[in-house]
Amino acid sequence: MQQAIPSRTALRVALRRAAHQIYDRPIVFHDPVAVAILGDAYAEELRRTPVRDDKPFSHAMRAHLVARSRYAEEALARAVAAGVDQYVLLGAGLDTFAHRNPWPRLKVFEVDHPATQAWKQELLRTNCIAIPENLTYAPVDFESQSLAEQLKQAGFDDGKPTFFAWLGVVPYLTLPAFRATIGFVGAQPSGSGIAFDYGQPRSALPFLEQLSHDSLAARVKLAGEPFQLFFTPPEIAAELAGFRDLEDLGRDEINARYFADRDDQLKIRGSAGRFLSAWV
Ligand SMILES: C[S@@+](CC[C@H](N)C(=O)[O-])C[C@H]1O[C@@H](n2cnc3c(N)ncnc32)[C@H](O)[C@@H]1O
Repeated sequence: MQQAIPSRTALRVALRRAAHQIYDRPIVFHDPVAVAILGDAYAEELRRTPVRDDKPFSHAMRAHLVARSRYAEEALARAVAAGVDQYVLLGAGLDTFAHRNPWPRLKVFEVDHPATQAWKQELLRTNCIAIPENLTYAPVDFESQSLAEQLKQAGFDDGKPTFFAWLGVVPYLTLPAFRATIGFVGAQPSGSGIAFDYGQPRSALPFLEQLSHDSLAARVKLAGEPFQLFFTPPEIAAELAGFRDLEDLGRDEINARYFADRDDQLKIRGSAGRFLSAWV
């Protein structure tokens, strides 16, 4: 990411979550704050966010984005039911969970690139969205700063099991930054867990999906956030060898879980993006 500029991809993701609330029925991921956080500043961009049925790529992208948020929050709910009371959003972007948190005892830590975090805080202020007492911000650049130190400064308790979500971030990192972060999560107490999504490398995709990959890669590069990191399922399983109960979902499993029996076009199309959860 460019140092002084808030994440443009975080905005695009948030626009699609907001569009989902307005245009899709049934809703797969309920987020009553998704539209409000964008406010007037992005109302025109939200209006222009493509949702038409003749744009299957935009449906597939939106499906991926809303399903991964739901996937992470379902895993979080299981963690909370098992006693976890800390939730760390790694690369939080404009995620609104902290403003919808149904568990008063769950402390939320939002970790993000400092420029993105400052922009989010400004949006919350402008749009009169209060910052809950149990939310703490921890600015971190995964490439150059210690997640452990920044979280500690923010009051994170590394003696307690914690659930982590890391949505839409892994492809933008270098391998050392990925390993440092996953190593930190893996060192948390038993009962901790993580949910994230990752992309398969171009070479693992069928030809037509390679073209979609190229088009998306060109767009994120133009946004200043080039893709850098991909894994095949066996490669990611090797990275997470120290974790237990690994679940790695591909297109068909995600569609069966979240998009069955719909009569619109909302579903995942390609095989590139996968959702993963794993436990310590
Ligand atoms: C595509 S957005 C996803 C945001 C959010 N997780 C969501 O699903 O809405 C990518 C996020 O990763 C963050 N990010 C990318 N590279 C980063 C880095 N080196 N350090 C910290 N955050 C980073 C960006 O600031 C941005 O918030």
